[in-house]
Amino acid sequence: MIALRLTDIQKTYGDNHVLCDVNLTIEDGEFIVIVGPSGCGKTTLLRVIAGLERPDAGEIMLFDTVVNEMSPAQREVAMVFQSYALYPHLTVFKNFEFALKLAGMTSEQIQQRIDEVAQTLSLSDYLDRKPSELSGGQRQRVALGRALVRKPRMFLFDEPLSNLDAALRMNTRIEIADLHRTLKTPILYVTHDQTEAMTLADRIVVMRAGRIEQIGAPLELYNTPNNRFVAGFIGSPAMNFIEPDLLPGLEAACIGVRPEHLFIAEDGRLSGKVLLHERLGTDTHVIADVGAGQKLTVRLPGQWEFERGAPIAFDFADADAVLFDAQDNRIIVDEPISL
Ligand SMILES: Nc1ncnc2c1ncn2[C@@H]1O[C@H](COP(=O)(O)OP(=O)(O)OP(=O)(O)O)[C@@H](O)[C@H]1O
Ligand SMILES: [Mg+2]
Repeated sequence: MIALRLTDIQKTYGDNHVLCDVNLTIEDGEFIVIVGPSGCGKTTLLRVIAGLERPDAGEIMLFDTVVNEMSPAQREVAMVFQSYALYPHLTVFKNFEFALKLAGMTSEQIQQRIDEVAQTLSLSDYLDRKPSELSGGQRQRVALGRALVRKPRMFLFDEPLSNLDAALRMNTRIEIADLHRTLKTPILYVTHDQTEAMTLADRIVVMRAGRIEQIGAPLELYNTPNNRFVAGFIGSPAMNFIEPDLLPGLEAACIGVRPEHLFIAEDGRLSGKVLLHERLGTDTHVIADVGAGQKLTVRLPGQWEFERGAPIAFDFADADAVLFDAQDNRIIVDEPISL
C-alpha cells in the first residue's frame, strides 16, 4: 500500500521557487529521511504534506485519498517540530490531552492513551510538570509523545533531535528506531545528521534547491551516487573530488574518492603538503594541499601525527574511485577507470 504520493509539487514564495516538480512515493511502513543543504525546501515540503502550507500546483495523496483540500486535522498526520512547539503553560498531561480532546475522545480513553504513551517514552513520572520544569531531552520526548498519542497515519519529523546533546541524541535515535519497528507507521524525517540519515532510513531523499536529486537506500547512495552533488553530500568527511587538471589522462572527468579509500604511498599519484590533521581517537583525518587550489582529505584508521607543511603523497585503488562527467557532473558508470 502506498502511504504518500506527491506528484509534481510546486511551491513559490514571491519569485523564490522553493519546491520544483517534487515527485515522491512512500510505501506504508517506510522510514524515509530527507537531507539537503539549509534552505533547500525540506521544512516547506513537510508543511505542504501536513496541510500547513498550500502548494501552487501538484497533488498530495495520502493512503489513496487526495488531500489537497483537506485541513491538517483531517489528514491525520502528526508533525514534530525542531522547536518542540509545546504549550508552556500546560502540564505534560494537558499537552498530550489537547490533541486528543480535539479528536473527541472520552476522558477514560484519553487517560488510557496518555498512560500508554507516557510509559513508552518513560514520561510517566513527569505528567504533572510544565515544559519549563523538564530537561531538553524530556521536552523532546513530550513533543514526540504529543504526536504519538493521536495514533496518526504518518509522522513528519523536522530535525527532532537537533537540540539534544550527543548522548541524548543517540538514545533518542534508538528510541525512534524502536518505535518505528513497533508501530510501523510511515515516517518522513528531516535531518542534517549523517548518522541519523544512514542508520534510520529505509531510503534517503537528497534534496537540493527545491528538487529531489536522488532517492535510494543509504548504502546505495553512498556507493553509487547519481551525481557529484549527492556524492559530496552523503558521507562525512565528504568525498574528495580530483579535478581533471590534477591527474593526466582524464580531460572530461572528475574522479571521486572517499577519504577512507586514500592511503599514504611514497610514490603515490597524488602529492602535496599537509595543511592540517585532526585526531579523533579512532581515526586521523589529514587534510592536504595537492596544488591547483585543491585539498584532499585522507582518513587513516588509528592515531597519527603530522607536521604542518610536511610533504605527503597518496594513492587509491582505481576500483574504489568513481568518475563524474566534468560537464554535467553525472556519474559515468560504463567506463572502467584506468589511469
Ligand atoms: N513563509 C515563507 N515566506 C517566504 N519564504 C519562505 C517562507 N518559508 C520558507 N521560505 C524560504 O523557502 C526556502 C526553503 O525554506 P525551508 O525552511 O523549507 O528550508 P529547509 O530546507 O528546511 O532549511 P533548513 O535546513 O535551514 O531548515 C528558503 O529560501 C526560505 O527562506
Ligand atoms: Mg528546515
